[in-house]
Amino acid sequence: DAILPILTIESTCDETAAAVISDDGAVMGQCIATQEALHEQFRGVVPEVAARAHLERILPVIDTAIRQAKVSPDDLTAIAVADRPGLAGSLLVGVVAGKTLAIAWQKPLVSLNHLHAHLYACQLSNESSVYPCVGLIVSGGHTSLYYCTSPLDLEYLGGTIDDAAGEAFDKVGAMLSLGFPGGPEVSKLAAKGKRDAYAFPRSMIHEKHFDFSFSGLKTAVRYAITGPGQQDFSKLRIDDQIKADVCASFETAVVDVLLSKCRRALKQYKCKQLIIGGGVAANRYLRQQFENAAKQDQFALTIAPPDLCTDNAVMGAIALEKIRRGDFASFDLDITPGLQR
Ligand code: KG4
Ligand code: ZN
Repeated sequence: DAILPILTIESTCDETAAAVISDDGAVMGQCIATQEALHEQFRGVVPEVAARAHLERILPVIDTAIRQAKVSPDDLTAIAVADRPGLAGSLLVGVVAGKTLAIAWQKPLVSLNHLHAHLYACQLSNESSVYPCVGLIVSGGHTSLYYCTSPLDLEYLGGTIDDAAGEAFDKVGAMLSLGFPGGPEVSKLAAKGKRDAYAFPRSMIHEKHFDFSFSGLKTAVRYAITGPGQQDFSKLRIDDQIKADVCASFETAVVDVLLSKCRRALKQYKCKQLIIGGGVAANRYLRQQFENAAKQDQFALTIAPPDLCTDNAVMGAIALEKIRRGDFASFDLDITPGLQR
C-alpha cells in the first residue's frame, strides 16, 4: 500500500523538532534540536534567544527528518504545525516555516494545539483507544486536567492558577543550583532523599475543583533552604543530604496533589481511563505513584513514553485525526501564544 506521509513541525518553546509520519502513525523520520545548553546560563528559557535559535535550526531540522524518512517533498500529503500555545517568537518561526513550505510545495496545512498533541502521545503508545479518559498535562508551561471523548474533543476541567508543575521543578532546581532544566536534576536527587523530611504544603488538595497552585509550595521550599528573607541562593552552601531531602519532599508534594485531583476527576466523571503527557510525566516517582494508584483503584493508565513526554514532533501525529475530519487551516493561520485551555 502507498504510504501517505505528513510532515509535522514543533517550535512552541525551546525544542526545534520535525517528523515525517505515515498515515498509519508510524514514524518514518524525526529530528529534535534542543536548546538546553543555550538557556542553561539563564536557568530558564529566554524567549528571544529561543526564537533566534529556532530560526537557525528550523530548516536543517525539517531537512533531516525528510531525508531520514527517505521521502521527497512531493510524497507529503500535508504539513502540520503547532500554532498554540507557546512563546510568540518561537511559534512564529515554526508557523512561518510550515506555511511557506505548504505554499511552495502545494500541500494542505494543518494547525496543531501543542497541549492536545502532548495528550495524543499517550494514544500513540497504545494499541486500543484510550477514550473516553481523563487527561492530565504536566509540562513546563501547563498543568491542566481534561475530560476527553476523542483526541480532539477535550473538556477543560481545571488547571494551575499560578506556576505549572514543571516550572516549579525548574525553580526549585535553580534554588539548589542544579542544572537546567531543573526537573530531571531534582528528580535524580529526590531518589536519595527522605520524602517526609519537610512538610511542604499540598495546595488545594482537598478542594473539589480541578485547579492547582504550586507557587506556595515553591515559596515553602525557598524558606526551607534559606529561612525567610534571604534572597541570594548563589552564595548558599547547602549540604547534599539536605538538598536530596528538599527535592524528595518537594517531588512528593507535587505528585500527591496531581494524583489526588486525578482520582477525584476519574470518580466524578465515572471514568476508568487516565492518560498523562508533558515533560513532567517523564518523572520516575510520578510514574511509580500513578502506577500504584491504577492498581489500587483499578483504572487503566497510559503515561506517554518518556521520549514523547518532553517536546517533540512525533506527537504531531494528532494531525492525522484532523485530516480525517477534513479540518485544515488556511494560509493566513496566525499564532495563539496565550491559549490556556
Ligand atoms: O513538555 P515540555 O518538554 O515543555 C513544555 O511544553 O513546557 O516540559 C518541560 C518541563 C520542564 O519544566 C522540565 O523540568 C520538566 O518538564 N521535566 C521534568 C522531568 N523531565 C522534564 N520534571 C520532573 N521530572 C522529570 N524527570
Ligand atoms: Zn510541551
